[in-house]
Amino acid sequence: MKRLIAANWKMNFAPGEASLYLAKLAKQIEVSPKVEVVICAPFVDLYPLAKAVDAKQFKLGAQNLSEHDDGPHTGEISGSMLKGLVDYVLVGHSERRAMGETDRQIAAKLAAARRHGLVPILCVGETLNEREHGLAEKVVVDQLTADLHGLTAEEVSGMVIAYEPVWAINHGQANPVPATPEQCKFAFRAIRHTLEELYGEAGSSGVRLLYGGSVDPDHAGAFLAMENVDGLLPGTASLNVEKFKKIVAAAA
Ligand code: PGA
Repeated sequence: MKRLIAANWKMNFAPGEASLYLAKLAKQIEVSPKVEVVICAPFVDLYPLAKAVDAKQFKLGAQNLSEHDDGPHTGEISGSMLKGLVDYVLVGHSERRAMGETDRQIAAKLAAARRHGLVPILCVGETLNEREHGLAEKVVVDQLTADLHGLTAEEVSGMVIAYEPVWAINHGQANPVPATPEQCKFAFRAIRHTLEELYGEAGSSGVRLLYGGSVDPDHAGAFLAMENVDGLLPGTASLNVEKFKKIVAAAA
């Protein structure tokens, strides 16, 4: 299976800046048959990026979508609007869960993504408080089970799941503390096991698993070497050409 490096730009780069940054990346990032590189950009950037991008080099992703397809939902963007612009969409990122997004909404968003032929990158992960109370594995499995509720094996196959321990994500602090592969082993095992229980070996084997949470060039290789890890979801490091280039190279 191809490795996947998905950049989460979060709320960075206005459209003009996004186009300039994409042009810089395009000059620096080598296309490899072993790696798929996805850029998850803010909604307003997607149209200019889609016009400029070389699809053999980068795929595009959105950072959210509505669970509805159209109608009176002010400020929302639907899968039918994203279709044709992006291939991927982040769903259930912890920064959105922290704003009140529920597992029920996330399940509906996954179904909406699938309805419109988009590949969801579902994000799961525990907070520091949950980890300190010994609940990390339970939280990850509970989120996964609730979020996938109602999806068939066919809908799940080809999907991407990112394990992002919330405590390891760079929330703008000076020295974020990344997790170690050792601290994350349990999560990847638990995610695989849950997928196999729900969808059998065949359903599970088509799902790629990513690590995210202060991914940087220094430890990208260690996470990529882990059993059950098929790629990475860098945020902050993806905003820096040199760092992002090294992360993609580590996967190639
Ligand atoms: P980070 O973000 O790499 O800046 O920690 C990752 C994410 O939140 O997806």
